[in-house]
Amino acid sequence: MQTLAGKKILLGISGGIAAYKCAELTRRLIERGAEVRIVMTQSAQEFITPLTMQAVSGNPVSDSLFDPAAEASMGHIELAKWADLVLLAPATADLIARIAAGMGNDLLSTLCLATDSPIAVAPAMNQQMYSNIATQENLATLARRSFHIWGPASGEQACGDVGPGRMLEPMDLVHRAEDFFQPADLSNIKIAITAGPTRESIDPVRYLTNHSSGKMGYAIAEAAAKRGAHVTLISGPVNLATPANVERVDTDSAEQMHQAAMDAATNHDIFISCAAVADFRPAEIATQKMKKKSGEDEMVLRLVKNPDIVASVAGLTEQRPFTVGFAAETQDVEQYARGKLSRKNLDLICANDVSQQGLGFNSDSNALHLYWPEGDKALPLASKHELGQQLISEIIDQFKAKQH
Ligand code: PMT
Repeated sequence: MQTLAGKKILLGISGGIAAYKCAELTRRLIERGAEVRIVMTQSAQEFITPLTMQAVSGNPVSDSLFDPAAEASMGHIELAKWADLVLLAPATADLIARIAAGMGNDLLSTLCLATDSPIAVAPAMNQQMYSNIATQENLATLARRSFHIWGPASGEQACGDVGPGRMLEPMDLVHRAEDFFQPADLSNIKIAITAGPTRESIDPVRYLTNHSSGKMGYAIAEAAAKRGAHVTLISGPVNLATPANVERVDTDSAEQMHQAAMDAATNHDIFISCAAVADFRPAEIATQKMKKKSGEDEMVLRLVKNPDIVASVAGLTEQRPFTVGFAAETQDVEQYARGKLSRKNLDLICANDVSQQGLGFNSDSNALHLYWPEGDKALPLASKHELGQQLISEIIDQFKAKQH
């Protein structure tokens, strides 16, 4: 599901160095199905040409209140009414001040007065200008009036300063726009998700683990929460922030994750097992740090099997959630994935070919192939962020189909 499909976005560009990023921003929005029209201030044209923006948006660029030709094709009031979202990016301190003051001294500020569509502001300026009390008060005024303030980011600036004031990167703005249009249609659905690796202790300072970063599971949790689902994220040890509106349960070992999953499973509608759970754990955990013994060049670690979490959930006879597993495979992907689908009694399995460089464990992108008893579907290479959204849509479709 493309959340930007058919959305009309009016991109208002003011005169900051970040204006050069608007060509990329426009392309990415259009790629996702949005229709983009551009309004530029005079000073924006010092940084990027209207011709470039016309070429990438596929629409004429508007830049003046007093242009009879532009008014004839789409007048400024019409343009103000056309937009589903007005995105001011980059929004300079000057533009923010003029809008906060309610001025209409050029086309862009006039449009902001004339529209009743939501307006998002992506501030971009020198860090000192951003911190200035005047700018802060202007932004607070806009926030109070229900403008959406997206950013800024912090970091090195074009002028050499370091601090807050960088415009969010084009893809970050695209994600903000997607989030903005995301329907909250899953508010009556509860989803439990496992993510990340497990750690199986050997002694007080050593453990067995794997390369799972948790990024895939966290992206799924984020996508579900953004659609209003109640999400419980049962996490192994990872270095990631908890997504907004997600309830996180931290676990370490497979046994702890198993306990947390069984506690959650019966009061959730859907269970998604994305965690890379250790199949085995050391039979004994040494109470003191294990020491090398002189003359011994080998060491044998006896392992015992861990509980299979997803199979335990799928095996519930009462209040069993719709159960989704993952299969990380390096060969014969379909055969092994389908084998796990039936052996673990799952409703759906997401096969992850982890033999390919840059996919699966600890990467920012991934590709999945979904299998269920009656069918299959490929979700091609995408960022984990996007894949999380697509996956939630597919899982919800299958979940609803099974309910009927
Ligand atoms: O975390 P990232 O760095 O973003 O990487 C994502 C990922 C590669 C870890 C993820 O996409 C993935 O493939 N997760 C499943 C990894 C795995 O352990 O697969 P498996 O084929 O060994 O296990 C099959 C299924 O059984 C999985 O749903 C797994 O969660 C589950 N399982 C396995 C063993 C066990 N004891 N309990 C389980 O629940």
